[in-house]
Amino acid sequence: MDKEICIGLLGSGTVGTGVARVLTMNQQQIRERVGASLVLKRVLVRDLKKERPGLEGVEKTDRFEDILEDPDIHIIVEVMGGIHPAKEYMLRALEAGKHVVTANKDVVAEYGHALFDMAAKHHVNFRFEAAVGGGIPIITPLKECLTANRITKILGILNGTTNYMLTKMSECGSDYDTVLKEAQDKGYAEADPTADVEGLDAARKAAILASIAFNSRVKLSDVSVEGITKITPEDISYAKTLGYTVKLLVVGTDSADGIDIRVHPVFLSCEHPLASVNGVYNAIFVHGNALGDAMFYGQGAGSLPTASAVVSDVIAVTRDIERGEITSVGCTCYEDKPICPLERTRSSYYVRLLVDDEPGVLGQIATAFGNAGVSLNSVVQTRRNVVDHAEIVAITHIVEHAKVERAIASLRKLPVVDEIRNIIRVESGR
Ligand code: NAP
Ligand code: HSE
Repeated sequence: MDKEICIGLLGSGTVGTGVARVLTMNQQQIRERVGASLVLKRVLVRDLKKERPGLEGVEKTDRFEDILEDPDIHIIVEVMGGIHPAKEYMLRALEAGKHVVTANKDVVAEYGHALFDMAAKHHVNFRFEAAVGGGIPIITPLKECLTANRITKILGILNGTTNYMLTKMSECGSDYDTVLKEAQDKGYAEADPTADVEGLDAARKAAILASIAFNSRVKLSDVSVEGITKITPEDISYAKTLGYTVKLLVVGTDSADGIDIRVHPVFLSCEHPLASVNGVYNAIFVHGNALGDAMFYGQGAGSLPTASAVVSDVIAVTRDIERGEITSVGCTCYEDKPICPLERTRSSYYVRLLVDDEPGVLGQIATAFGNAGVSLNSVVQTRRNVVDHAEIVAITHIVEHAKVERAIASLRKLPVVDEIRNIIRVESGR
């Protein structure tokens, strides 16, 4: 008879049912690849009476201990989501000598170090490929395939909901509320879309990615975050005119100033490979000092794409069980690099102003930028989107954030400036 490796599944929602489906649909191929059958032995559910389509043949329990204490179960897959009790269940599982695979970015971003420590102490695997970029392989490539490099820059589109919304705003000229409703109707955005549109979902993934790429622990609170709620069709239209597309980007740099890690909307040059990543797709662009540029592209969410990453982790663990040794790379935060404070971060900026339409206005604005030490790359004045006023769009050269803040403070004081309509960073990707 075939050797069997038993799995306990925590959570049977979108990803949990995907995991069951991948294990069934690719059963024979997986058996041939690992030399053992992967068996979903038990599933933890909250409500034993609720129908679980796709998990009909699997034993259900509402007691975590039934999985934890089952000596046949060697691998626990956590796909419940949220911090509690997911974190406690994973720690207890590792402590009990079970290997853990998770898709939970919330827990990994905040408690990854504790989980790694527990895994190392008990000589088991802790893997989380699906936590960043869903089905796109990026954690293992960074930890293994690119480990010969010093990674100096990561750029990522890591939230499908907001990328879908910005793509629709760009394609159809629709406003934020209309595309949000569309994203909800299509099931991309959750009923409460706050974590996606305010950038928190991407920030958690950014903290995980930066920690691994730059070999130094980056906490969620180290990530400067700004969402897409202030992006208007007018900004999107200016972006197009100027040769950019608007994206919610994870921007991470490792330099002599420390680690600069941010999530915010950007005007991204249409020539950058990430500019053509549209709809719900995700992509991560990495620069390594030996490799140069590389881009990882695919489906960052969804039942089967995410399950693809989860089950691949399970297979890697199974191979370790077969070999009798742990080969997965554990925590890679060997260094303790400083975080570059937001005011010292450097970028180019798009600033859109509503001003009085009278002689000398442009001069006053240029002086306010100049006095703050901000050099302008281009200035466009139009009467688009306005009545009895003018709109000025300035693109700055690359400058420290603190200087732009100083310029904005002076501009607000000018009587000819009626409104600062938006400030968005410009990213060339270099
Ligand atoms: P989901 O559809 O909401 O499913 C969560 C499942 O966990 C549900 O079956 C829920 O039970 C169960 N659950 C929650 N708390 C529980 C508890 N205390 N005890 C027992 N069961 C519990 O979520 P999902 O989309 O599959 O996401 C799961 C995880 O994968 C999250 O960490 C998410 O961030 C991550 N992820 C998801 C995607 C994606 O595309 N969905 C992509 C990448 C990563 P009920 O059935 O009783 O509600
Ligand atoms: N809510 C996320 C997104 C998927 O829209 O990309 C789960 O990480």
